[in-house]
Amino acid sequence: MISYDRETGVFHLENGLISLVLCVREDEAGQKELLLPYMGAPLSDPASCLYLAKTHGGASFDTDRQARPYACPTEGRGDSRPPLLCAVDGQGQGCTELYFKDCAIVAGKPPLPGLPASYVEKDSEAETLLITLGDEQTGLRAEVRLTIFAGRPIIAESIRYRNEGGEPLTLTNAGSACVTLPGRYDMIHLHGAWAKERSVERISPAALTRGISSVRGASGHEHNPFAVLAAPDATEFSGECVGAALVYSGNFAIQADENAYGTTRLTLGLNPRGFAWRLLPGEDFQAPEALFAWSKEGLNGMSQAFHSLMRQRVCRGHWRDRARPILINNWEATYFGFDHEKIMTIARAAANAGIELFVLDDGWFGKRNNDDCSLGDWVVNKEKLPKGLDGLAREINALGMKFGLWFEPEMVSPDSDLYRAHPDWCLHAGSRRRTTARQQLILDMGRRDVQDYVIGAVSTVLRSAPIEYVKWDMNRNFLEAGSEALSDGRQGETAHRYMLGLYRVLEEITGAFPQVLFESCSGGGGRFDAGMLSYMPQTWTSDDTDAVARLSIQYGTSLCYPTSAMGAHVSAVPNHQVGRVTGMRMRGDVALAGNFGYELDLSAQTPEDMEEIRRQVAMVKALRETTQRGTFTRLLSPFEGNVTAWQFSDEKRVILCAYRVLNMPNAAPLRVRLHNVPQGTYRASDGSLITGNDLMAAGVPLQFGWQDFSSIVMVFEKTA
Ligand code: GLA
Repeated sequence: MISYDRETGVFHLENGLISLVLCVREDEAGQKELLLPYMGAPLSDPASCLYLAKTHGGASFDTDRQARPYACPTEGRGDSRPPLLCAVDGQGQGCTELYFKDCAIVAGKPPLPGLPASYVEKDSEAETLLITLGDEQTGLRAEVRLTIFAGRPIIAESIRYRNEGGEPLTLTNAGSACVTLPGRYDMIHLHGAWAKERSVERISPAALTRGISSVRGASGHEHNPFAVLAAPDATEFSGECVGAALVYSGNFAIQADENAYGTTRLTLGLNPRGFAWRLLPGEDFQAPEALFAWSKEGLNGMSQAFHSLMRQRVCRGHWRDRARPILINNWEATYFGFDHEKIMTIARAAANAGIELFVLDDGWFGKRNNDDCSLGDWVVNKEKLPKGLDGLAREINALGMKFGLWFEPEMVSPDSDLYRAHPDWCLHAGSRRRTTARQQLILDMGRRDVQDYVIGAVSTVLRSAPIEYVKWDMNRNFLEAGSEALSDGRQGETAHRYMLGLYRVLEEITGAFPQVLFESCSGGGGRFDAGMLSYMPQTWTSDDTDAVARLSIQYGTSLCYPTSAMGAHVSAVPNHQVGRVTGMRMRGDVALAGNFGYELDLSAQTPEDMEEIRRQVAMVKALRETTQRGTFTRLLSPFEGNVTAWQFSDEKRVILCAYRVLNMPNAAPLRVRLHNVPQGTYRASDGSLITGNDLMAAGVPLQFGWQDFSSIVMVFEKTA
């Protein structure tokens, strides 16, 4: 999969689905630069793309530097596009020149110490190229790691920086990956806010830097650490797309820069804003991993490559390949106002409907009867739950359901025993005001003592009762992000040290409780990223559970993340976020396209709704193998019209889901054509037979009900 021609200095990573070419070229001073002239369709001969590495022939020095496809561009080299690296020396000088030193090709994929990353189970699944670059003046080394996976149009890239000089350096930019594509590309990204996460935005080519980022200490609601460079004519089904995702959950920056020389540079990595990392002689700094997916089958092709990688080689552990349980969560049913009996009433109704897991949300600990206290005091509230978590969990188990629990371990309420004992344990900037959000502060997860406290507190609770699921929440972002534990001008390390500490905590806890299903959450979907998926195979997609709003949220999320990663629940009407009243049927049909659950008072439903809930639970059990692990294809976008449609397919069946928001008088008949249906004959629910070919060629009519908020789920079972 990886070849290196020492004569020509050309590296070729290829697997028949994608090619990436690097080459070592002498610059004006005879120094060996590393260039990355090509990533895209598989090439028969890497020499065919080398013209892209050539200088601009006859143009000025400036033109040369502005057009060259550097693999690891640095600050201070006459290239004004966004760089990957800036290493500042003791004099404040940040000019760095990285030149080729050596290389190695290894089987498999080495792990990234301390950071989440994609992985292989066998060395035969991938090959990794390690190229070391060095700056003679400072002694800085950059080891660029590029992995190509067998059978996937995916490349993983990361960089490990090392100070081999004699003086301390400060990294003010330590990026992860950079690719340069010839031509102009649309940039597609996901943006939003609380309760409206991951709207799709497509920005036309522009001769400037288009960028997304986070300074929130979490990947955030605002932007997602994922972007696409799409050919201007690319659609969901055709055209060239390069997707890029960071395996990281904190402050990040992704930039797409187009200059006057007809190339687009994409850089990904930690956000340089607020970042300054002291690298002492002999120390390493590992930048997070970036994943690239290439497709000529439009956005769906790119998404499907990401879905299968995330599901199979980013997510880990016991639950990775297992059917996810149908859950009932009490948050919107009770908020903080519950006791043992109320929970049991809901649990009995849930067990009756065939639901498999009861999740007790916020409010079970300390004296937390609203959101202004007790975070950090992870001790059960015996007034609400006199039989304790163990007593409650066992009664729920006796109904035939698993028991799960909400935590927000990274937080501390000023009104808590933990804060009273350790006021220095929260993030804060010296003596400045400690601004609360939702009446809470953030623990300084970069501190070892804080990490150990969180590991101990969560583990003690998990050992105290049969808890088989954890919802790990994080409900506010960074404000005065300083750390009392850091000295020597190291405050610029706070945010990344927080993430390293959190990842250590997650590694320890998920390792100690391997059978527990972990779901991450951050005020809904404020930390939906590949970094979190490495520890927790599912994420709460959004606090907005309205069926119409969820069409856009789940559609946008699916650009990068698989449906097996998305929590999707049926909630009460009028919906608590938007007040809209949709039918039980549509709410269930939307939630079907994720990890299905309920978030309402099941003991207060009408008999008709309970009947429908029982039907939904049975439907999800019958279909979840396909909805959680099949191929997901977007058909009609909620961002473009009144009807949304998507499809799931595997070797057993094809499921078409279609949703119409508003009814129309005298409307034209609607049909939808399916895509990539495996060959064969399928039986529809009315018993009629249709071939895979005809599902794609003729399509199927969509006969929605005579009302607003209508949905259709059609299942085609494969017969032969
Ligand atoms: C966040 C989550 C919700 C719920 C509340 C509890 O907002 O996204 O699902 O758990 O916290 O406080």
